[in-house]
Amino acid sequence: MTKSSVSESIRVQDAEIAKVVLMPGDPLRAKHVAEHYLENPVCFNTVRNMLGFTGTYKGKQISVMGSGMGIPSMGLYATELFNQFDVDAIIRIGSTGALLDEVKMRDVVIAMAASTNSNYGAAFGMPGLLAPVADYGMLEQAVSAAKELGVSAKVGPVYTSDHFYYPTDVLNTKARELGHLCIEMETAGLYWTAAACHKKALSILTVSDHLYTGEALSAEDRQESFHEMMEVALETAWRCIK
Ligand code: HPA
Repeated sequence: MTKSSVSESIRVQDAEIAKVVLMPGDPLRAKHVAEHYLENPVCFNTVRNMLGFTGTYKGKQISVMGSGMGIPSMGLYATELFNQFDVDAIIRIGSTGALLDEVKMRDVVIAMAASTNSNYGAAFGMPGLLAPVADYGMLEQAVSAAKELGVSAKVGPVYTSDHFYYPTDVLNTKARELGHLCIEMETAGLYWTAAACHKKALSILTVSDHLYTGEALSAEDRQESFHEMMEVALETAWRCIK
């Protein structure tokens, strides 16, 4: 893979990066996850405040690092983690807006595939479109972990948008009509990057708002549903590490 700039965005200090990395959009979320879910977390990256930490969960090393918002940011960090730091698998943990009626507030969504209006994938040179899809083994582990934990998880296609503020309602309407469970901004970029780097990826999301009922979670409910997503993500990460 060719770099378009000489600068690297991850400069490891004091700690290794684990084989599996959890990636919330917000770097302060990464800090929260490290401090509340991992044992002995050590910060490995502070470049551009995109904080990354490595700690242990049930005896296995797991890292957590912010991805930033949108496909270009996710694509950049995921590429460096896979290609320069020998990471095997990335699990996006993030929030999403529900599109379908059967997707409820606080549901966990496991993204099987991601349609998108982004042109980022064109760079990979596949005639037609390279399909942004989850790693099946990770998806299977996440589904069984959710069942065992009693977490209500929906599995299906999501929509990854380049726009948070799209100028018309045509995007949401089409994405809903064509069966996408929810909308967010990073998953297609992660899945494309994993395919291009011959690595594995999965997005596990939590529904923070519903675009057709107008509901939005309160801060406390957000925390609770975030916790359910985290349990599924940590269990999936743990099972992915040999
Ligand atoms: N659009 C894009 N990303 C999101 C949304 C949304 O409505 N809600 C949460 N993440």
